[in-house]
Amino acid sequence: MSIEKVIVLEDDAIVRANLENFLRRQKLDVVTAPTIAAARDALGRDSFDLIFMDMRLPDGDSIELLKELQTRPQRPLAVVMTGFGSVESAVECMKNGSFDYLIKPFSTEQIEVTLRKAQEFSQLVKVNHFLSQESDDDERELIGRSPSMENLRQLIRKVARTQATVLIHGESGTGKELVARALYRESPRAEAAFIKVNCAAVPENLIESEFFGHEKGAFTGAMTKREGRFELAHTGTILLDEISEISPAVQAKLLRVLQERELERVGGNRTIKVDVRVIATTNRDLQQSVEKKEFRQDLYFRLNVVPVHVPPLRERREDIPELAGEFMRRFARKHGVHVKGFTEAALHTLRQHDWPGNVRELQNVIERAVILCGENGMLEPEHLGMAAPPENSGDGGDFLSGYNASGGLLTLAEMEKRHILAAMNHCGGNRTHAAKVLNMSIRTLRNKLHEINGTTPKSEDEAEVVEG
Ligand SMILES: Nc1ncnc2c1ncn2[C@@H]1O[C@H](COP(=O)(O)OP(=O)(O)OP(=O)(O)O)[C@@H](O)[C@H]1O
Ligand SMILES: [Mg+2]
Repeated sequence: MSIEKVIVLEDDAIVRANLENFLRRQKLDVVTAPTIAAARDALGRDSFDLIFMDMRLPDGDSIELLKELQTRPQRPLAVVMTGFGSVESAVECMKNGSFDYLIKPFSTEQIEVTLRKAQEFSQLVKVNHFLSQESDDDERELIGRSPSMENLRQLIRKVARTQATVLIHGESGTGKELVARALYRESPRAEAAFIKVNCAAVPENLIESEFFGHEKGAFTGAMTKREGRFELAHTGTILLDEISEISPAVQAKLLRVLQERELERVGGNRTIKVDVRVIATTNRDLQQSVEKKEFRQDLYFRLNVVPVHVPPLRERREDIPELAGEFMRRFARKHGVHVKGFTEAALHTLRQHDWPGNVRELQNVIERAVILCGENGMLEPEHLGMAAPPENSGDGGDFLSGYNASGGLLTLAEMEKRHILAAMNHCGGNRTHAAKVLNMSIRTLRNKLHEINGTTPKSEDEAEVVEG
């Protein structure tokens, strides 16, 4: 629920009490204020999702308070209550940012309608805010006409229609996220939100609050309440990306949401019901993780209702020319470069390569080639930069030899750092792929990269909450 805390600013004691009682019956947390001063005081101390405001009060006109509220980043939705004679001032309030108005005397049905509208609106604001922070490229179509891609498309069409939980597995860069988005787009929930959580990118201590939200003061730094991704995804679809990376404690909590479709925020005790369709992805073999006791079997069964496998690019080489052609056009447009096509030799190189980083690697190679392409607009093998071995990067002699430029032995830490950077380079900057090559978890790699860069890990979007 998006509206939880409400303030009623009204000087008429009877109207105030009636409204308060009604709102409490709706399980809302209500504070009342008979004057603007009292309301201002309460608004300074606490955050509210909704304010009902009478217009003329003993200590002034509430339009001033309304204007003041508009300057706050986290403000309640405002509903103005006005007598029959002052509809013009209601219009004035709407111009100044109020969400709705009620003309006195009003019925409980009218309040209910207003509340419902406010709930929906506030949910939309939050979802939009979340989506506006997602980097959204609009190239979402799955490219490829190989039999395995056609099968995949058919499966997506069939499964999308249902509410079934889907587990998408495949190597890094094969297009799992694209498949998840296709499932969403073709589902009956396509009009509702698609909310993604990258389980590998969120630090372990924040993941629970990321999933389930938290109440104000739940832990140090929890300045306001925050809804989790499951609540944001209510009526829509949630993508749990790289699900293999979550800790046993969070696995247990996730199991509960999947089974009961209910949750409690961190530091809260109210049970919140959510209606979500769940899609998860993994590039690890989850069954193996279950055997190694790293992943709960019951959770695995809950997730693996419909397994969808995305094959590696080397097993569908016939898709390479079409993918390469499409990426070439996209990057030519993006970089404003004139490119005509690939030479036969370049196409041959692309077809021969094993693509350990799959479609993402191909995409990176083509982007670089488009940038390096010469005057004649033809992409040659040398533009693909694929034959160059990753070792011997130059400056201090043998980059990965274990010796520095003056012949002394490197420390283990320095050697590790060099090796990690070489792996990142080899994988075109793709951390998931590099982690796989290095046989370490993405989280460990992420932490090591932060160490190398001297940066601090933090949640992807800690500062994203907007209320009201
Ligand atoms: N069939 C395809 N058609 C067009 N683009 C594709 C296709 N498959 C993958 N891509 C592109 O390749 C990139 C990687 O795809 P995506 O992020 O879906 O892979 P992933 O399997 O989720 O990888 P990871 O495990 O590393 O998260 C994206 O930019 C995506 O748009
Ligand atoms: Mg992915």
